[in-house]
Amino acid sequence: MTQSTPDATALTPLHDADPADAPWWRDAVIYQIYPRSWADSDGDGIGDLPGITARLPYLRDLGVDAIWLSPFYVSPMHDAGYDVADYRDIDPVFGSLPDADALISTAHDLGLKVVVDLVPNHSSSEHEWFKAALAAGPGSAERGRYVFREGKGANGEEPPNNWPSVFGGEGWTRVTEADGTPGEWYLHIFDTTQPDYDWTNPEVGDEFASILEFWCARGVDGFRVDVAHGLVKEAGLPDWHGPMQMLDAADSSAEAALPVGEEESARIHETGDGPRPPMWDQEGVHDIYRRWRSVLDAQPAPERILCAEAWVKPESRLARYVRSDEMHQAFNFDFLDTHWDAERLREVITTSFRENDHVGAPTTWVLSNHDVVRHASRLGLDQSLPRPNGIGADQAQPNAELGLKRARAATMLMLGLPGSSYVYQGEELGLPESTDMPDEFRQDPTFHRTEGKEIGRDGCRVPMPWVRDAPSLGFGPSDATWLPQPEAYGAYAVDQQEGVEGSTLELYRSMLSVRRADRLGLGSAAWHDLSGGDVVAVVNASGSGSDAGRRMLVLVNLGAEPVALPSGAEVVLSSGPLGADGQVPTDVAVWARL
Ligand code: NOJ
Repeated sequence: MTQSTPDATALTPLHDADPADAPWWRDAVIYQIYPRSWADSDGDGIGDLPGITARLPYLRDLGVDAIWLSPFYVSPMHDAGYDVADYRDIDPVFGSLPDADALISTAHDLGLKVVVDLVPNHSSSEHEWFKAALAAGPGSAERGRYVFREGKGANGEEPPNNWPSVFGGEGWTRVTEADGTPGEWYLHIFDTTQPDYDWTNPEVGDEFASILEFWCARGVDGFRVDVAHGLVKEAGLPDWHGPMQMLDAADSSAEAALPVGEEESARIHETGDGPRPPMWDQEGVHDIYRRWRSVLDAQPAPERILCAEAWVKPESRLARYVRSDEMHQAFNFDFLDTHWDAERLREVITTSFRENDHVGAPTTWVLSNHDVVRHASRLGLDQSLPRPNGIGADQAQPNAELGLKRARAATMLMLGLPGSSYVYQGEELGLPESTDMPDEFRQDPTFHRTEGKEIGRDGCRVPMPWVRDAPSLGFGPSDATWLPQPEAYGAYAVDQQEGVEGSTLELYRSMLSVRRADRLGLGSAAWHDLSGGDVVAVVNASGSGSDAGRRMLVLVNLGAEPVALPSGAEVVLSSGPLGADGQVPTDVAVWARL
């Protein structure tokens, strides 16, 4: 049985178009490079800046507008660079400041903008400020830049409150004072080596304003802001008995550590009216972003941007980060979190447009990044189970074929929606998660702090396959790779897909090319009346570009039955083969002109 073709199309408006001259970031497709794993120029097994620069033409040809680089700063790498020891220099493993300058100018010559990562919630414990804080002792100005507190209990032997670390274990570490006695505790919402700053201290704010200026002067076009919802903590640092809501509300180790009643959890997650965790989404963060916006607005053109990594629910709370005097973008993690479920996808799309439109911001779609299981694998897992934090060899394995089929369809939906989109390195190859990595290679602190209970994020961070028959699959000139590349990755290498009809790489190139020509990122959106049941169907009308006035139907079929397209619809692209009768089969998406 097939669904019938409607005679007349009824559209339910969702979102108004942007003007054709909207600023670049409103519809940009931004490609995330994880520098350790993209391209290695010197054969040490770790990717680096010269490696990236040399391969930038690949991204121009792919058709993205910008890159976002995960941290490349000086770091002891206890959290893969999200533990910064010097915000104004490059870690030698990645190169040097002149290498960064060369990367930025090459990218600009190729028409690519450059967004860098800013990590303002915490520094590395090897940062000069933290070393000075340890040396200076209790009550000092140096300690005042971080969150040091006396412990509880007769001898201060218990942590100041019950907050856990997002990575597992306690959120506090006790220091040994200069005289050798056990002393104060410092807060670290992440690893022990990532002490949280005290953002009530004006010195911290001044320092970050200066760091923004430093990188703007070097030519960067924006900043992805790490843990943007975490900088300010509730005064008094009260105990908290609810979930931590970081990385994934459903199954983070911290949530497991602090059980909460279902009702309380639902209230916290869904309404936003109940108590918020005292470490997240506090009102004070917005003043910080207003200041940063004015720092960026004072820079010469083109406009530079801030993009929030904020795991905040509901979307109305997230939209507060992108009010007109704050950030420009905020990752839509509700979209990323959504299972392969048409009804839920429709809900998220509706809410995303409504809440972002309310504050005049674009929606920033994303399906994969360096913190989550790659969507080509995630969507091949049992969709009735919570999203896992990594996949180990002895856990349920994804169905690779199904996952890739759905991932291609999901991306076609994402790139067909107005707004900005982020693409994570390797997803354009359909790369699956590495799920058979031996434990001795694992580096994610989550794995170690939970004693392996959580597999963690190494599986999505494996070095890129460029050339099947080359050392390290063309990642670098030697066999060395800092994480092992799965056997299967050779078949996904760039050289295996370039120019191959139907390959995932060619599908991404085609999608990005049509999206750019038709200005789909600036279009309006409306539900097509085929939407409903297992079908998600949006009409994107750009009103500009090479096909001004034409409308693109973006349709995904998540159901068991094939779906017939409206009569006259002209298929431009499909994520998989269509039926002989032109119908859209299960787990396939199309873009069709109406
Ligand atoms: C979010 C980053 O994306 C993640 O990789 C990192 O571990 C935490 N923030 C802590 O900086």
